[in-house]
Amino acid sequence: MERNTTTIPQADIDRQLTFCREIAQMNAARPEQPLAFVDTYGCQQNEADSERIRGYLSEMGYGFTDDEEQAQIIVLNTCAIREHAEQRVLGNLGALVHVKRRHPDQIICMCGCMAQEQHVAEKIKQSFRHVDLVFGPHMLWKFPEFIHTLLTSRGRIFQIPDEAGSIAEGIPVVRQDKVKAWVSIMYGCNNFCSYCIVPYVRGRERSRQPEDILNEVRALASEGYKDITLLGQNVNSYGKDLDSPMDFADLLERVNAIPGDFLIRFMTSHPKDATQKLFETMARCEKVAPVLHLPFQAGNNRVLKVMNRKHTIEGYLDKIRALRALIPDIVLTSDVIVGFPGETTPEFEDTLKVLEEVQFDALFTFIYSPRVGTPAAKMDDPMPREEKLANFNRLVALQDAISEKKHAAYIGKTMRCLVDGESGDSRYPLSARTPGNRLVRLTGEPAAIGQFVQVKITDANKWSLFGEMV
Ligand code: SAH
Ligand code: SF4
Ligand code: F3S
Repeated sequence: MERNTTTIPQADIDRQLTFCREIAQMNAARPEQPLAFVDTYGCQQNEADSERIRGYLSEMGYGFTDDEEQAQIIVLNTCAIREHAEQRVLGNLGALVHVKRRHPDQIICMCGCMAQEQHVAEKIKQSFRHVDLVFGPHMLWKFPEFIHTLLTSRGRIFQIPDEAGSIAEGIPVVRQDKVKAWVSIMYGCNNFCSYCIVPYVRGRERSRQPEDILNEVRALASEGYKDITLLGQNVNSYGKDLDSPMDFADLLERVNAIPGDFLIRFMTSHPKDATQKLFETMARCEKVAPVLHLPFQAGNNRVLKVMNRKHTIEGYLDKIRALRALIPDIVLTSDVIVGFPGETTPEFEDTLKVLEEVQFDALFTFIYSPRVGTPAAKMDDPMPREEKLANFNRLVALQDAISEKKHAAYIGKTMRCLVDGESGDSRYPLSARTPGNRLVRLTGEPAAIGQFVQVKITDANKWSLFGEMV
């Protein structure tokens, strides 16, 4: 059977690495090492992409800074999911005009999901003339070539082909963290939820070969990473485009079999293909963390249908029950949209009922934001903003009460937690994560960072737990 996913030939990636070496030679001739600033917006997928951009930049001989005044290259890796995210990017990108006036040979790049939107790219072309390079997620693998062109000739580059997307292996990576790592297992989305921009900017679903994923996880485990998150817009449809018969549950099983003391997490799961087989695999695999992020978006079946979510709320609740029967202490989180076009307040109240019934540990709540080119953006949206806001506040208040109650139930328990960094709070200087990924502020010394320790939970509020090592 033909694999229907395009893979970038290794020779093409090698050519990019040749551009990196040429740029590194030019940079070596400078009096000081030049610096780059990579500013990331949006989801973990973008964080993972930025680690590749940094990988390329490092091969080109750049060091890193968070100060735009010091940077020779500035990269904004952007998110298009909601208007607020886009406005932040445009604000920050606009402000760089002054920075570039002070440093005229600076290279300013915009990439990521926003760059892939035609109307945004057009706006940058016309009104943000200080931006030198705009490329979408499909072109990330060619980043060294673009920089090489900018360094050796004049002009601006716009590379945002509208394509289904490909897979590029062998791009160097500079990871941001020593304890937690992201591993993309697939790219793109086929679901076309009617409100969502992702399928338009990230292309069709395509799965990396299992061996490539397993090799990456093996390397991370041997480098001492303790918390590995498998990433995809909908990990549950992993493998559908592979020629070997392999689904996400099979992949989890194989990642779990890799030797080492580390936790496996994954996100995001779509309820329509979260299967009993997946739940059984999660229950059986000791490294798979007892947590599931399963967005339901809305509690009303009419609204779900117009959202094109392809699941009902009864089906969703059945899956939650099946999962809890297998893993009683599973930590559950979800995403919810308030104010989808045409959603009435009684329909919104069905969302509150789902919260009451499921008792999520945490919820990510969003007010609907119209996205150019999506079906929902053309739908009638009669509800006034104040009513949406009032509903949103009711939702947040209910979830806050549930989170507070769930967190209080941890007090007095002792659990194995991963110390993942410093908290910035002098009374509880460390931050740690429970197996279910709840945040714990912890007493103790920084030497514990990167280790699993037994933690006694002594206090809690709606945002986090507090504890001490035992
Ligand atoms: N692939 C993931 C979600 C990616 S986007 C999934 O399907 O679960 C993360 C969340 O942003 C979504 O779950 C949804 O709740 C929210 N979101 C997406 N588009 C939105 C929009 N146009 N307005 C408001 N929230 C949106
Ligand atoms: Fe967007 Fe739906 Fe795809 Fe998630 S599954 S990325 S919400 S279209
Ligand atoms: Fe945003 Fe793109 Fe992620 S739109 S949420 S950065 S896939």
